[in-house]
Amino acid sequence: MRIAVCASEGAPYCKSGGLGDVMEALPAALSRIEGNEVILFLPYYSKVKRSSAYPCEKVAELRVRLGWRQQYAGIMRLTNRSDGVSVYFIDNEYYFGGRGASLYGDLDDGERFAFFSRACLDAMIALSFIPDVIQCNDWQTALIPTYLKAMYRGAFPQTRCMYTIHNIEYQGWAHADFFDEVLGLPWEYRGTLDMGGAVNMMKGAIETADLVTTVSETYARELMYPYYAHGLDGILAGYSWKLTGITNGIDTGVFNPETDPALPAHFNCESFVEGKAACKAALQEEVGLPVKPDVPLMVMVTRLAGHKGLDLLCYIARRLLWEEDAQLLILGTGEAQYEHFFRDLQNQFPEKCAAKITFNLGLAARIYAGGDIYLMPSKSEPCGLSQMNAMRYGTVPVVHATGGLKDTVPPADENGEGGLGFTFQSYNADDFLASLKRCLNLYNHNPEGFRALQRRDMEQDFSWNVPAGRYMELFRNMLSW
Ligand code: GLC
Repeated sequence: MRIAVCASEGAPYCKSGGLGDVMEALPAALSRIEGNEVILFLPYYSKVKRSSAYPCEKVAELRVRLGWRQQYAGIMRLTNRSDGVSVYFIDNEYYFGGRGASLYGDLDDGERFAFFSRACLDAMIALSFIPDVIQCNDWQTALIPTYLKAMYRGAFPQTRCMYTIHNIEYQGWAHADFFDEVLGLPWEYRGTLDMGGAVNMMKGAIETADLVTTVSETYARELMYPYYAHGLDGILAGYSWKLTGITNGIDTGVFNPETDPALPAHFNCESFVEGKAACKAALQEEVGLPVKPDVPLMVMVTRLAGHKGLDLLCYIARRLLWEEDAQLLILGTGEAQYEHFFRDLQNQFPEKCAAKITFNLGLAARIYAGGDIYLMPSKSEPCGLSQMNAMRYGTVPVVHATGGLKDTVPPADENGEGGLGFTFQSYNADDFLASLKRCLNLYNHNPEGFRALQRRDMEQDFSWNVPAGRYMELFRNMLSW
């Protein structure tokens, strides 16, 4: 099968969050399936352009139409990828070069990604790669199914399109004028993109894609409700027949405690007791906490954003650290109120709390490996990847039972049996504290039970093999229509 994957980020080249991780591992997993030919399209951000690690050659130059204008697009082929995925970057200095370090957040983001979406389709034509399936992701590539249906059928008579929602909070809203001035779509598609008098690119994709997926089964059900869907529940309920949830995997080659170069000691399911103890001591030392092997170390690696459930943690943090002989370590950056809170907490409890307000992938890996308990009380979570990273490194998750957290962390009982971690049902700080205390109890009073749970977490198969197979099933379904 010929598969084109289009996205606004993909690790290791450019990444701001989980989408970037998925765009590293999913195309690779699809290309390992026999008979598949996989192309990944990404923007040629200046960071990628300037990096000597990503040598590229120009294979085509195009003019992409946007409204009444034509914009240059250089098609750059990455020359050193060896796993079978062909990576092409779309070059345009005005849209992707010379901007700041962050990938998004410019006033003309709508236009930048409208350009990118159209350029992907034009690039496929220029490369004579007419795919069976196009898989596109989030608002930044949401215009692809609409352009495909409205203007590109001649070149792509049989191509099917899957649209995947990783984050429904960002939908690609624009002023109504954007439709004529930038998109240049035929007028009959005005209603497809219209939401309350403005343009909503994600809404258009839900209507025009052949299938819509999101990144866990539970989240697919949750999206039928206003609490989760940020205004799109009605539209999604109307198209519920085309919505499926496929729970992400993680790149088990990259996230591997036996080989991860960031770790001070390596381990597997057999040797994790000693291995993790060495990692924990080194981690406590690194972040300035007292080196205490028997005190439970609770950890969190996260963007400091509201929906990650930080208000619950802030509410219980002082009580928790007063009452428990335990350590708390947070790594992440984000909203100022949380950055201040955790810095204050560290000042107040220097022996028990360390707040590393920074972005550091190596330290993140050492935290997954050196922690005992991983906290993830997200208010909503389409899938979540770090709970899986944590389990793979033998760190027991305590999570809010929502979205992908519910699907990947079945609840264990107070003896640590029958599940993979500790969960709470309603988004409530006392319930979070209660589940965390169940976990601390197990750690403190039943070390064997805790170790059995850690081992079970490490033994899970979180690889992309199963989810990639499910994507293939849906691709084949679409092609049989
Ligand atoms: C988004 C979601 C996260 C998911 C990731 C990859 O970042 O918030 O839950 O794991 O996309 O699909």
